[in-house]
Amino acid sequence: MGKHHDIDSLLDDVITLPSLPDSVERLTQLIDSPDCPLSEVARVISSDPALAIKTLRLINSAYYGLSNPVTTIEHAVVLLGAKVIKNLALTATVFDSMSKTAGAFLAHCVGCGVAMGVYSRSGAAGRMIASGDEAFLFGLLHDIGRVIFVETMPREYAEVVNAARNSSTPLCQIERELIGADHAELGGRLAERWRLNPPMIDAIAGHHDPMKVGENFRSIAATLGLADYTAYESGMPSFEGIIATAPPELWNIAEVNPAHLPEILDNYFELFPSIQEFSQLFG
Ligand SMILES: [Fe+2]
Ligand SMILES: [Fe+2]
Repeated sequence: MGKHHDIDSLLDDVITLPSLPDSVERLTQLIDSPDCPLSEVARVISSDPALAIKTLRLINSAYYGLSNPVTTIEHAVVLLGAKVIKNLALTATVFDSMSKTAGAFLAHCVGCGVAMGVYSRSGAAGRMIASGDEAFLFGLLHDIGRVIFVETMPREYAEVVNAARNSSTPLCQIERELIGADHAELGGRLAERWRLNPPMIDAIAGHHDPMKVGENFRSIAATLGLADYTAYESGMPSFEGIIATAPPELWNIAEVNPAHLPEILDNYFELFPSIQEFSQLFG
């Protein structure tokens, strides 16, 4: 790869960003409109049987802890609300595309999602993240730029990962040196294209360097960086042999009180079985 690439030229010449499936696209538009009927949300999901099945599987996973199994999308929408269902449908779609990549990478993203939920419940990012399913989606999507690199430039990206193994140079920096852009920038562009909400776009783009994004969602980006670090430190690296660090200022920006850390980690480890469950859900 030449050094002449930057994110724009990569997107012009080398990488075509994937689109969301039509059903998820329609769902997003529908839910963003002011008077969205729940029955219509259910109809859109049910019109895509594969999506409906995957969404139901997620809803019935132990992570959501529902006492009775939900068997229809109509029931799920009434029970959980349209926004939650949209996030779950998007989660199911992303899971599906990621299950083709290595299992360890999927576990890393799931671990990050579970950690993001725990951090945000503890008050990180000023509790700006509305719900557990949304927090989970942040984690699941945070490294989506890597999925794109692996799929569109497998040879070049294998070189990047090899160079980063056991190296103290951050992976992002090696990506920028060898490819011309890093996975956080690329993921942010994909989130924009999918018209995800602004906190999600900025958190993905800034999870390795929150100062790269605007002030509004910087604390969410920093929290996502901590969740990422937590997944690494608990034995779920994105790729074998890749080392992660969390710069000390991350805790401040994320508004995490270090005194709460033992409790945060206890909560995280309690949810460990669900990481396994999620990782196998679509495998
Ligand atoms: Fe990352
Ligand atoms: Fe990561």
